[in-house]
Amino acid sequence: MQRTADGFRREGKRIGIVPTMGYLHEGHLSLLRIAGQHANIVVTTIFVNPLQFAPHEDFSRYPRDIERDTQLAETAGTDILFIPENNEMYSRDHTTYIVPERIADVLEGKVRPGHFRGVATVVAKLFNITKPHVAVFGQKDAQQALLMQRMVSDLNFDVEVIVAPIVREPDGLAMSSRNVYLHPEERAQSVVLSQSLQLAEKRIASGERNSGNIIAAMTNLISSKPLAIIDYISIANPHTLQELEEISIGAAVLISLAVRFGSTRLIDNTIVNVH
Ligand code: PAF
Repeated sequence: MQRTADGFRREGKRIGIVPTMGYLHEGHLSLLRIAGQHANIVVTTIFVNPLQFAPHEDFSRYPRDIERDTQLAETAGTDILFIPENNEMYSRDHTTYIVPERIADVLEGKVRPGHFRGVATVVAKLFNITKPHVAVFGQKDAQQALLMQRMVSDLNFDVEVIVAPIVREPDGLAMSSRNVYLHPEERAQSVVLSQSLQLAEKRIASGERNSGNIIAAMTNLISSKPLAIIDYISIANPHTLQELEEISIGAAVLISLAVRFGSTRLIDNTIVNVH
C-alpha cells in the first residue's frame, strides 16, 4: 500500500480514503461516491478495529462479509480495497496511541471510555499507510467526525476531512451495520430515534428554546416504545459538544442520542440551524 500511495502521489493523483469496519450499506457507499468526487483514487479500508471496542462490546460478533463488501465497494467506485489483518495493524509490542481529550470525554466517549483512543489511533495509522489527500466520514457518527477534524488540525495531518450526510432507511432509521442485530419488533420500534429528532426540530421551529423541555418531549416519545432504553439525549454546541440549556437564535445545535434495544445500541443525530 505504501509504495502504491507514494506512486499515485508522484503521478499527481489525489487520494481519497473512506475508513470503514465493513459490512457495507448504502451509507458507506454514499461516502465512497463522495470520495470519488474529491479524489482520483478512492481507497476503502475495511478493518474491524479491536482497539475501539471495550471487552464487553460486540467486537467478536460485529457483522463481517468480505466477499459482499468487495463487490459493493468496487461497484461504488473503490479503486483500492485495503483489508489488513490485526497483526498487520498492531504488532504484539504496539506501544503508541492517540488519546483525544475534552470533546472525546462526553457523549459516546463517556459511555464508551477508550473508544475514541481506538478510533483516533487506527485512523492515524490508516492515514499514514494510505497517504490520503482527503478523508470522508459520516455525520451519523457526529462526535467521531468532529474528532477526526480536530485530530487532523491538532496533529497537522495534511488531510482534508469531509463529513457526509446521514443516509436513512425509508422509515427514517439511520443506516448502520449494527441494524442487522435488531429483532423484527426492535427494528419496528427503532424508528422512534429519527421521529424524536424530527419532534425536536419541530419544537425548535415553533419557538421552543429550552433544551430541557425538548429533551423531555423526546424522552416521552422514545419511552412510549417498550423496548427502547435511552442512554443519553443531548443538545449541544456542534463544535465544542458543550451542553446547552437554552438554544440561541442564529446558532446551530447538535441534537444527538443513543438508545439501546436489547443488546443493540443505536445512535443518531441532527444539526438544527436556529432562525
Ligand atoms: O466509523 C467506523 O466505522 C470506525 O470508527 C472507523 C472510522 C472505520 C475506525 O475504525
